[in-house]
Amino acid sequence: MQDLSVVPEASQTPVWINGKIVDWKNAYIHIFSHVISYGSGVFEGVRVYETPKGTAIFHLTDHLDRLDLSAKSFGMKLPYSRHEFVEAHKEVVRASGHAHGYLRPQIQFGVSSRITLAATDATDVTIIFQPLGQYRATKELKVVTSEVERISPKSGDVEAKIAGYYTNPHYNHLFANKKGADEAIMLDINGNVAEASSSNVFYVKDGELYTPKTGYILKGITRKTLLELAEKELGMKTHEVVMSPEDLRSGDEIFLSGTAAEIDPVVEIDGTQISNGKIGDVTQKLTDLYGKVTSGTLPGYEQWLTYVN
Ligand SMILES: Cc1ncc(COP(=O)(O)O)c(C=O)c1O
Repeated sequence: MQDLSVVPEASQTPVWINGKIVDWKNAYIHIFSHVISYGSGVFEGVRVYETPKGTAIFHLTDHLDRLDLSAKSFGMKLPYSRHEFVEAHKEVVRASGHAHGYLRPQIQFGVSSRITLAATDATDVTIIFQPLGQYRATKELKVVTSEVERISPKSGDVEAKIAGYYTNPHYNHLFANKKGADEAIMLDINGNVAEASSSNVFYVKDGELYTPKTGYILKGITRKTLLELAEKELGMKTHEVVMSPEDLRSGDEIFLSGTAAEIDPVVEIDGTQISNGKIGDVTQKLTDLYGKVTSGTLPGYEQWLTYVN
């Protein structure tokens, strides 16, 4: 058995599994589960923040909508109503005793009568919670353009968040590490910029904001949030485009966005410094705005928060 003391903080938090809160030590699914061999799970990563009105889950509705889409696309069904599942998320956070962290709801194919790739009707539904501060060790990133291609729309539904797909970002990480970079930017089947391993990509040029259009990327919830904040709060023009690697490298600023990592400024791409090796002005402004909406201190965005109490 693996040494479980490697996750000291998470091991303090109970887990929701098939409708019940259980102690972390007893949070098991069976080794014969289909998901273990085939990565046949759909999941979300959701952040929890402390706000003046109490602990809140950020964009829970959007995450659960995306989970539903992933499940539908993969031929799975969540055996709980939306109301029950929202309540389950609140329950896990309350039971954790933490006001800040990361939730991971997952629906996964379970045990079938024999070992087969054919899907089973049995699903296990789990929600784990982990106290989480800053996601990456480094905030200001050096990135490289990856030789690992993003899974294409011809290989599956790229807008579904499926556990097995994440072998692709894993190879991307290995590529980045070999090149001495923090992250790598994956290209799509046409050689255009898609996204990073678990984040979407943006660049700022002449005061306008650019991000790859949908079709070859995960439709990031942080991506959508930042496009809205840039337009409404900063009055910026935003563009969802077919983006070549050269377009990206020409940016005055580059940053990555994702629920876990939030906003990470890129200070070097393919060995070339970006925005003098520092976080750029627009990236800083968006980071500040994102901090305000997630902490419930920017009026007008209350609807993005689901309070756990
Ligand atoms: C492949 C990929 N792209 C982008 C993102 C960013 O999406 P979001 O902002 O919804 O977390 C994620 C994270 O879930 C991801 O896994």
